[in-house]
Amino acid sequence: MDKKLMLTGLQPTGTITLGNYIGAIKQMVENQEKYNSIIFIADMHAITVPIDADTLANNIRQLIAIYIACGIDPEKNLIFLQSDNEYHANISWMLECNTYHGELSRMTQFKDKSAKNANFSAGLFTYPVLMAADILAYDADLVPVGIDQKQHVEITRDIAIRFNKKYGETFVVPEPLIREAGTKIMDLQDPTKKMSKSSESQKGVIRILDDINTIRKKINSAVTDSVGKVNYDPENQPGVTNLINIYTSLTGMSKEEVVAKFENANYGEFKKGVADVVVAEFEKIQARYNELINSDELDRILDEGRDKAREIAKKKYEEMKNKIGLRR
Ligand code: TYM
Repeated sequence: MDKKLMLTGLQPTGTITLGNYIGAIKQMVENQEKYNSIIFIADMHAITVPIDADTLANNIRQLIAIYIACGIDPEKNLIFLQSDNEYHANISWMLECNTYHGELSRMTQFKDKSAKNANFSAGLFTYPVLMAADILAYDADLVPVGIDQKQHVEITRDIAIRFNKKYGETFVVPEPLIREAGTKIMDLQDPTKKMSKSSESQKGVIRILDDINTIRKKINSAVTDSVGKVNYDPENQPGVTNLINIYTSLTGMSKEEVVAKFENANYGEFKKGVADVVVAEFEKIQARYNELINSDELDRILDEGRDKAREIAKKKYEEMKNKIGLRR
């Protein structure tokens, strides 16, 4: 049987976090032997909210280097920049005309972001359809994401099913790939809030290129509780539970094993243990990143990726146009 296709993308809105790494990138790296895989930089998504042009361009280059440094193997993955492939926006338009205003209004991420700034762009509203285009253009089976993107994969499924019914089998209906631990890594200073790239909190967010001492300090000052014992208890010990999730996601140990390992530890010792695994992983990534960031290899990878991605998406685009009746 043919291998399944796994696909994901990250927005270059800021230096990526430990949450992004665990929710998306690490899953891609772990599964790249098992599945065919596509990973792209969702730069067109990044302009749904205001962003300075040079910052965006720098973030794009940084993110491609981070992908490779994290172990995304260019031989095993199709890697490209979304804006290099004009078919995404074209496909998105055809899908938009098969998506309801009402269903987009119900997207929680849209509700949250639009509440923060009443003067939001139309792109912020239609963003999930562009995400559907990213996925459906390639017939992806599996989409590794954190839980915050699950609703967007679900609307992608709804759009695909609707289009298939109306115009005949056109798209594979994808599934989200979400791991149990680490579906949502929380802010270290406010464990009720997602650790987010665009967060203003610096202390609560670990970024993949933070220097090692800063990472240790951030983990050491993570908010815990007064229970004083390492338990997996999201309700009453959200900070400690978050640190357990980080530990399990990076080591592959179960949460029970982590709790047992730190049974007699105080919070200082436990935090040191967590910092050790984060630092061990990020030190390697940062060393590779520094070698890669100024190399021509990145451009070569993106050029090659662009050509392959365009070829695949063009076919889907032509098929959709034809089925819809956009033809002479
Ligand atoms: P983005 O850039 O916000 O986040 C990238 C990935 O990281 C995951 N993630 C987290 N996982 C665990 N804990 C967290 N605290 C955390 N924060 C973020 C996200 O779930 C995501 O998987 N719309 C997407 C990008 C995108 C995309 C796509 C993804 C565009 N097109 C097609 C998959 C397929 C986004 O904004 O992700």
